[in-house]
Amino acid sequence: MASPAAGVVVIVGSGLIGRSWAMLFASGGFRVKLYDIEQQQVTNALENIRKEMMFLEQSGSLKGSLGAQDQLSLISGCLNIQEAVEGALHIQECVPENLELKKKIFAQLDQIIDDQVVLSSSTSCLLPSQLFAGLAHVQQCLVAHPVNPPYYVPLVELVPHPETAPVTVDRTHALMRKIGQSPVRVLKEMDGFVLNRLQYAVISEAWRLVEEGIVSPSDLDLVMSDGLGMRYAFIGPLETMHLNAEGMLSYCDRYSEGMKRVLKTFGPIPEFSGATVEKVNQAMCLKVPADPEHLAARRRWRDECLQRLAKLKRQMPSQ
Ligand code: NAI
Repeated sequence: MASPAAGVVVIVGSGLIGRSWAMLFASGGFRVKLYDIEQQQVTNALENIRKEMMFLEQSGSLKGSLGAQDQLSLISGCLNIQEAVEGALHIQECVPENLELKKKIFAQLDQIIDDQVVLSSSTSCLLPSQLFAGLAHVQQCLVAHPVNPPYYVPLVELVPHPETAPVTVDRTHALMRKIGQSPVRVLKEMDGFVLNRLQYAVISEAWRLVEEGIVSPSDLDLVMSDGLGMRYAFIGPLETMHLNAEGMLSYCDRYSEGMKRVLKTFGPIPEFSGATVEKVNQAMCLKVPADPEHLAARRRWRDECLQRLAKLKRQMPSQ
Protein backbone atom coordinates (compact mmCIF):
# COMPACT_ATOMS: atom_id res chain seq x y z
CA MET A 1 0.00 0.00 0.00
CA ALA A 2 1.25 3.51 -0.83
CA SER A 3 2.38 5.44 2.20
CA PRO A 4 -0.44 7.36 3.89
CA ALA A 5 2.35 9.92 4.38
CA ALA A 6 1.14 11.21 0.98
CA GLY A 7 -0.68 13.54 3.40
CA VAL A 8 -4.07 14.38 4.82
CA VAL A 9 -6.81 16.05 2.81
CA VAL A 10 -9.99 17.38 4.42
CA ILE A 11 -13.28 17.45 2.54
CA VAL A 12 -15.83 19.87 4.02
CA GLY A 13 -19.32 18.72 2.97
CA SER A 14 -19.97 15.09 2.06
CA GLY A 15 -22.57 15.50 -0.71
CA LEU A 16 -22.23 14.61 -4.39
CA ILE A 17 -19.03 16.56 -5.04
CA GLY A 18 -17.44 15.94 -1.62
CA ARG A 19 -17.77 12.17 -2.16
CA SER A 20 -16.15 12.36 -5.57
CA TRP A 21 -13.22 14.37 -4.24
CA ALA A 22 -12.82 11.87 -1.38
CA MET A 23 -12.57 9.01 -3.89
CA LEU A 24 -10.12 10.90 -6.08
CA PHE A 25 -7.79 11.84 -3.22
CA ALA A 26 -7.89 8.27 -1.85
CA SER A 27 -7.00 6.98 -5.33
CA GLY A 28 -3.85 9.11 -5.08
CA GLY A 29 -2.92 7.53 -1.72
CA PHE A 30 -3.99 10.50 0.44
CA ARG A 31 -5.66 10.05 3.80
CA VAL A 32 -9.07 11.72 3.54
CA LYS A 33 -11.13 13.14 6.38
CA LEU A 34 -14.71 13.66 5.29
CA TYR A 35 -16.30 16.38 7.44
CA ASP A 36 -20.00 17.26 7.55
CA ILE A 37 -22.41 18.80 10.06
CA GLU A 38 -24.79 15.86 9.70
CA GLN A 39 -23.74 12.44 11.06
CA GLN A 40 -26.24 10.78 8.73
CA GLN A 41 -24.71 12.52 5.71
CA VAL A 42 -21.27 11.18 6.62
CA THR A 43 -22.61 7.67 7.18
CA ASN A 44 -24.44 7.75 3.84
CA ALA A 45 -21.39 9.16 2.07
CA LEU A 46 -19.06 6.45 3.39
CA GLU A 47 -21.53 3.72 2.41
CA ASN A 48 -22.05 5.24 -1.02
CA ILE A 49 -18.28 5.52 -1.58
CA ARG A 50 -17.79 1.88 -0.51
CA LYS A 51 -20.39 0.63 -3.00
CA GLU A 52 -19.07 2.85 -5.76
CA MET A 53 -15.45 1.77 -5.26
CA MET A 54 -16.35 -1.94 -5.22
CA PHE A 55 -18.30 -1.46 -8.45
CA LEU A 56 -15.44 0.48 -10.05
CA GLU A 57 -12.94 -2.21 -9.06
CA GLN A 58 -15.13 -4.95 -10.53
CA SER A 59 -15.58 -3.04 -13.78
CA GLY A 60 -11.86 -2.30 -14.05
CA SER A 61 -12.36 1.46 -13.71
CA LEU A 62 -10.97 2.09 -10.24
CA LYS A 63 -8.42 4.89 -10.37
CA GLY A 64 -4.98 4.72 -8.76
CA SER A 65 -2.62 1.89 -7.94
CA LEU A 66 -4.29 0.78 -4.69
CA GLY A 67 -7.16 -1.72 -4.49
CA ALA A 68 -10.63 -0.65 -3.35
CA GLN A 69 -10.14 -1.91 0.22
CA ASP A 70 -6.88 -0.02 0.64
CA GLN A 71 -8.43 3.15 -0.76
CA LEU A 72 -11.46 2.77 1.50
CA SER A 73 -9.23 2.38 4.56
CA LEU A 74 -7.79 5.83 3.79
CA ILE A 75 -11.19 7.56 4.09
CA SER A 76 -12.76 8.36 7.44
CA GLY A 77 -15.71 10.47 8.56
CA CYS A 78 -15.33 13.36 10.97
CA LEU A 79 -17.74 15.69 12.78
CA ASN A 80 -15.17 17.93 14.48
CA ILE A 81 -13.69 20.53 12.14
CA GLN A 82 -10.81 21.41 14.50
CA GLU A 83 -9.70 17.77 14.63
CA ALA A 84 -10.23 17.37 10.90
CA VAL A 85 -7.87 20.16 9.80
CA GLU A 86 -5.05 19.23 12.18
CA GLY A 87 -1.94 18.61 10.04
CA ALA A 88 -3.88 18.73 6.75
CA LEU A 89 -2.12 19.78 3.55
CA HIS A 90 -5.29 20.61 1.59
CA ILE A 91 -8.90 21.46 2.51
CA GLN A 92 -11.54 21.12 -0.21
CA GLU A 93 -14.79 22.89 0.62
CA CYS A 94 -17.91 21.27 -0.93
CA VAL A 95 -20.91 22.75 0.91
CA PRO A 96 -24.02 23.97 -0.99
CA GLU A 97 -23.65 26.88 -3.43
CA ASN A 98 -24.56 29.68 -1.02
CA LEU A 99 -22.21 32.64 -0.60
CA GLU A 100 -23.12 33.41 3.01
CA LEU A 101 -22.73 29.77 4.09
CA LYS A 102 -19.38 29.41 2.33
CA LYS A 103 -18.11 32.72 3.76
CA LYS A 104 -19.12 31.59 7.24
CA ILE A 105 -17.20 28.32 6.83
CA PHE A 106 -14.10 30.05 5.44
CA ALA A 107 -14.16 32.56 8.32
CA GLN A 108 -14.33 29.62 10.75
CA LEU A 109 -11.51 27.76 9.00
CA ASP A 110 -9.42 30.96 8.87
CA GLN A 111 -9.34 30.93 12.69
CA ILE A 112 -8.02 27.38 13.02
CA ILE A 113 -5.75 26.63 10.06
CA ASP A 114 -1.95 26.93 9.99
CA ASP A 115 0.08 28.96 7.48
CA GLN A 116 0.75 25.98 5.19
CA VAL A 117 -2.53 24.33 4.28
CA VAL A 118 -4.30 25.21 1.02
CA LEU A 119 -7.94 26.27 1.40
CA SER A 120 -9.85 25.46 -1.76
CA SER A 121 -13.49 25.91 -2.77
CA SER A 122 -15.42 23.71 -5.23
CA THR A 123 -17.78 26.56 -6.10
CA SER A 124 -19.28 26.48 -9.59
CA CYS A 125 -19.82 30.20 -9.96
CA LEU A 126 -18.94 32.27 -6.87
CA LEU A 127 -15.91 34.49 -7.35
CA PRO A 128 -12.79 34.15 -5.17
CA SER A 129 -12.92 37.89 -4.37
CA GLN A 130 -16.38 37.35 -2.83
CA LEU A 131 -15.53 34.08 -1.09
CA PHE A 132 -12.18 34.93 0.48
CA ALA A 133 -12.50 38.69 1.13
CA GLY A 134 -10.91 39.72 4.41
CA LEU A 135 -9.45 36.33 5.38
CA ALA A 136 -6.10 36.41 7.18
CA HIS A 137 -5.02 33.36 5.14
CA VAL A 138 -6.22 34.71 1.77
CA GLN A 139 -2.82 33.91 0.20
CA GLN A 140 -3.56 30.21 0.78
CA CYS A 141 -7.04 30.34 -0.80
CA LEU A 142 -8.29 29.54 -4.30
CA VAL A 143 -11.17 27.98 -6.18
CA ALA A 144 -10.68 24.46 -7.58
CA HIS A 145 -13.84 23.95 -9.64
CA PRO A 146 -14.46 20.33 -10.72
CA VAL A 147 -16.78 19.14 -13.49
CA ASN A 148 -19.59 16.69 -12.77
CA PRO A 149 -18.99 13.74 -12.55
CA PRO A 150 -15.41 14.51 -11.40
CA TYR A 151 -14.37 10.84 -11.28
CA TYR A 152 -14.77 10.57 -15.07
CA VAL A 153 -14.36 14.18 -16.21
CA PRO A 154 -10.93 15.22 -14.98
CA LEU A 155 -10.92 18.97 -15.64
CA VAL A 156 -10.43 21.26 -12.63
CA GLU A 157 -10.42 25.05 -13.04
CA LEU A 158 -8.01 26.72 -10.61
CA VAL A 159 -9.08 30.31 -9.98
CA PRO A 160 -7.04 32.55 -7.65
CA HIS A 161 -8.14 35.50 -5.54
CA PRO A 162 -6.12 38.60 -6.55
CA GLU A 163 -4.06 38.05 -3.35
CA THR A 164 -3.58 34.29 -3.69
CA ALA A 165 0.15 33.41 -3.53
CA PRO A 166 1.47 31.84 -6.76
CA VAL A 167 2.80 28.92 -4.69
CA THR A 168 -0.79 28.10 -3.61
CA VAL A 169 -1.82 27.69 -7.24
CA ASP A 170 1.36 25.71 -8.05
CA ARG A 171 0.84 23.34 -5.13
CA THR A 172 -2.81 22.76 -6.02
CA HIS A 173 -1.92 22.22 -9.67
CA ALA A 174 0.64 19.57 -8.66
CA LEU A 175 -1.82 17.95 -6.25
CA MET A 176 -4.52 17.73 -8.92
CA ARG A 177 -2.06 16.13 -11.34
CA LYS A 178 -1.07 13.65 -8.65
CA ILE A 179 -4.65 12.43 -8.27
CA GLY A 180 -5.08 12.10 -12.04
CA GLN A 181 -7.13 15.27 -12.60
CA SER A 182 -6.46 17.76 -15.33
CA PRO A 183 -6.01 21.24 -13.81
CA VAL A 184 -6.08 24.48 -15.79
CA ARG A 185 -4.98 27.86 -14.47
CA VAL A 186 -7.54 30.62 -14.86
CA LEU A 187 -5.12 33.53 -14.63
CA LYS A 188 -7.61 36.14 -13.41
CA GLU A 189 -11.02 35.68 -11.85
CA MET A 190 -13.90 36.08 -14.28
CA ASP A 191 -17.62 35.45 -13.85
CA GLY A 192 -18.38 31.93 -15.10
CA PHE A 193 -14.66 31.05 -15.08
CA VAL A 194 -13.82 29.45 -18.47
CA LEU A 195 -15.82 26.23 -18.77
CA ASN A 196 -19.20 27.80 -18.06
CA ARG A 197 -18.50 30.77 -20.33
CA LEU A 198 -17.85 28.35 -23.20
CA GLN A 199 -20.85 26.25 -22.21
CA TYR A 200 -23.16 29.27 -22.06
CA ALA A 201 -21.96 30.51 -25.45
CA VAL A 202 -22.89 27.12 -26.94
CA ILE A 203 -26.24 26.95 -25.11
CA SER A 204 -27.06 30.48 -26.19
CA GLU A 205 -26.53 29.85 -29.90
CA ALA A 206 -28.24 26.43 -29.65
CA TRP A 207 -31.29 28.14 -28.16
CA ARG A 208 -31.39 30.86 -30.83
CA LEU A 209 -31.16 28.29 -33.65
CA VAL A 210 -34.11 26.35 -32.21
CA GLU A 211 -36.05 29.55 -31.49
CA GLU A 212 -35.61 30.74 -35.06
CA GLY A 213 -36.79 27.37 -36.41
CA ILE A 214 -33.45 26.57 -38.09
CA VAL A 215 -33.13 23.12 -36.53
CA SER A 216 -35.15 20.86 -34.23
CA PRO A 217 -34.04 20.44 -30.57
CA SER A 218 -33.08 16.78 -31.07
CA ASP A 219 -31.07 17.49 -34.23
CA LEU A 220 -29.36 20.38 -32.47
CA ASP A 221 -28.13 18.00 -29.76
CA LEU A 222 -26.97 15.56 -32.45
CA VAL A 223 -24.78 18.26 -34.00
CA MET A 224 -22.83 18.25 -30.74
CA SER A 225 -22.90 14.56 -29.74
CA ASP A 226 -22.15 13.16 -33.23
CA GLY A 227 -20.29 16.18 -34.59
CA LEU A 228 -18.36 18.77 -32.64
CA GLY A 229 -18.30 16.76 -29.42
CA MET A 230 -16.52 13.82 -31.10
CA ARG A 231 -13.40 15.87 -31.72
CA TYR A 232 -13.72 18.10 -28.66
CA ALA A 233 -13.21 15.05 -26.44
CA PHE A 234 -9.65 14.96 -27.79
CA ILE A 235 -8.71 18.38 -29.13
CA GLY A 236 -10.00 21.84 -28.25
CA PRO A 237 -11.42 24.53 -30.56
CA LEU A 238 -8.06 26.27 -31.04
CA GLU A 239 -6.21 23.09 -32.02
CA THR A 240 -9.16 22.24 -34.27
CA MET A 241 -8.46 25.47 -36.15
CA HIS A 242 -4.77 24.60 -36.38
CA LEU A 243 -5.46 21.12 -37.81
CA ASN A 244 -8.31 22.12 -40.13
CA ALA A 245 -5.96 24.13 -42.34
CA GLU A 246 -2.21 24.20 -42.82
CA GLY A 247 -1.77 25.56 -39.30
CA MET A 248 -3.37 28.42 -37.38
CA LEU A 249 -2.12 31.22 -39.62
CA SER A 250 -3.47 29.49 -42.68
CA TYR A 251 -6.83 28.87 -40.93
CA CYS A 252 -7.22 32.54 -39.99
CA ASP A 253 -6.16 33.57 -43.46
CA ARG A 254 -8.71 31.28 -45.10
CA TYR A 255 -11.63 31.39 -42.71
CA SER A 256 -11.58 34.58 -40.60
CA GLU A 257 -13.76 36.57 -43.01
CA GLY A 258 -16.36 33.79 -43.08
CA MET A 259 -16.27 33.42 -39.29
CA LYS A 260 -16.75 37.15 -38.76
CA ARG A 261 -19.62 37.25 -41.29
CA VAL A 262 -21.44 34.42 -39.47
CA LEU A 263 -20.63 35.78 -36.00
CA LYS A 264 -22.24 39.11 -36.92
CA THR A 265 -25.55 37.26 -37.40
CA PHE A 266 -25.63 35.95 -33.80
CA GLY A 267 -28.67 37.29 -31.96
CA PRO A 268 -29.19 38.70 -28.46
CA ILE A 269 -29.12 36.74 -25.20
CA PRO A 270 -32.16 34.42 -25.20
CA GLU A 271 -34.83 34.71 -22.49
CA PHE A 272 -35.01 30.91 -22.00
CA SER A 273 -38.77 31.17 -21.55
CA GLY A 274 -42.06 31.23 -23.48
CA ALA A 275 -42.81 29.08 -26.52
CA THR A 276 -39.20 27.99 -27.03
CA VAL A 277 -38.86 26.53 -23.56
CA GLU A 278 -42.09 24.58 -24.19
CA LYS A 279 -40.73 23.29 -27.47
CA VAL A 280 -37.34 22.28 -26.09
CA ASN A 281 -38.90 20.73 -22.98
CA GLN A 282 -41.31 18.67 -25.09
CA ALA A 283 -38.47 17.32 -27.24
CA MET A 284 -36.28 16.51 -24.23
CA CYS A 285 -39.14 14.79 -22.36
CA LEU A 286 -39.91 12.68 -25.41
CA LYS A 287 -36.37 11.37 -25.24
CA VAL A 288 -36.00 11.26 -21.44
CA PRO A 289 -39.20 11.72 -19.40
CA ALA A 290 -38.46 14.21 -16.60
CA ASP A 291 -39.30 11.90 -13.68
CA PRO A 292 -36.65 10.80 -11.16
CA GLU A 293 -36.39 7.20 -12.48
CA HIS A 294 -35.88 8.08 -16.14
CA LEU A 295 -33.50 10.92 -15.33
CA ALA A 296 -31.45 8.70 -12.99
CA ALA A 297 -31.29 5.91 -15.61
CA ARG A 298 -30.13 8.32 -18.30
CA ARG A 299 -27.50 9.81 -15.93
CA ARG A 300 -26.21 6.27 -15.22
CA TRP A 301 -25.94 5.66 -18.96
CA ARG A 302 -24.15 9.02 -19.42
CA ASP A 303 -21.71 8.20 -16.62
CA GLU A 304 -20.98 4.79 -18.15
CA CYS A 305 -20.27 6.43 -21.50
CA LEU A 306 -17.97 8.94 -19.79
CA GLN A 307 -16.28 6.14 -17.86
CA ARG A 308 -15.50 4.30 -21.11
CA LEU A 309 -14.39 7.48 -22.82
CA ALA A 310 -12.06 8.23 -19.89
CA LYS A 311 -10.61 4.73 -20.28
CA LEU A 312 -10.11 5.23 -24.02
CA LYS A 313 -8.39 8.56 -23.43
CA ARG A 314 -6.01 6.92 -20.93
CA GLN A 315 -5.24 4.14 -23.43
CA MET A 316 -4.60 6.46 -26.40
CA PRO A 317 -0.89 7.11 -26.91
CA SER A 318 -0.23 10.79 -26.31
CA GLN A 319 1.78 12.45 -29.04
P1 NAI B 1 -24.71 18.69 -1.99
O1 NAI B 1 -25.94 19.41 -1.57
O2 NAI B 1 -24.82 17.35 -2.64
O3 NAI B 1 -23.76 18.52 -0.70
C1 NAI B 1 -23.51 19.52 0.24
C2 NAI B 1 -23.06 18.89 1.55
O4 NAI B 1 -22.62 19.94 2.42
C3 NAI B 1 -24.14 18.11 2.29
O5 NAI B 1 -23.63 16.85 2.65
C4 NAI B 1 -24.43 18.97 3.53
O6 NAI B 1 -24.81 18.21 4.68
C5 NAI B 1 -23.06 19.63 3.74
N1 NAI B 1 -23.09 20.84 4.54
C6 NAI B 1 -24.04 21.81 4.60
N2 NAI B 1 -23.67 22.76 5.48
C7 NAI B 1 -22.46 22.40 5.97
C8 NAI B 1 -21.57 22.97 6.92
N3 NAI B 1 -21.86 24.12 7.53
N4 NAI B 1 -20.42 22.32 7.20
C9 NAI B 1 -20.13 21.14 6.58
N5 NAI B 1 -20.93 20.55 5.66
C10 NAI B 1 -22.09 21.17 5.38
O7 NAI B 1 -23.91 19.72 -2.92
P2 NAI B 1 -22.91 19.37 -4.14
O8 NAI B 1 -23.69 19.14 -5.40
O9 NAI B 1 -21.95 18.33 -3.70
O10 NAI B 1 -22.17 20.78 -4.34
C11 NAI B 1 -21.12 21.20 -3.47
C12 NAI B 1 -20.35 22.34 -4.15
O11 NAI B 1 -19.76 21.86 -5.36
C13 NAI B 1 -21.22 23.54 -4.54
O12 NAI B 1 -20.50 24.73 -4.34
C14 NAI B 1 -21.45 23.32 -6.03
O13 NAI B 1 -21.68 24.52 -6.74
C15 NAI B 1 -20.11 22.72 -6.43
N6 NAI B 1 -20.16 21.94 -7.67
C16 NAI B 1 -21.24 21.11 -7.89
C17 NAI B 1 -21.32 20.41 -9.10
C18 NAI B 1 -22.50 19.52 -9.35
O14 NAI B 1 -22.72 19.15 -10.51
N7 NAI B 1 -23.26 19.12 -8.33
C19 NAI B 1 -20.25 20.50 -10.12
C20 NAI B 1 -19.13 21.34 -9.73
C21 NAI B 1 -19.11 22.03 -8.54
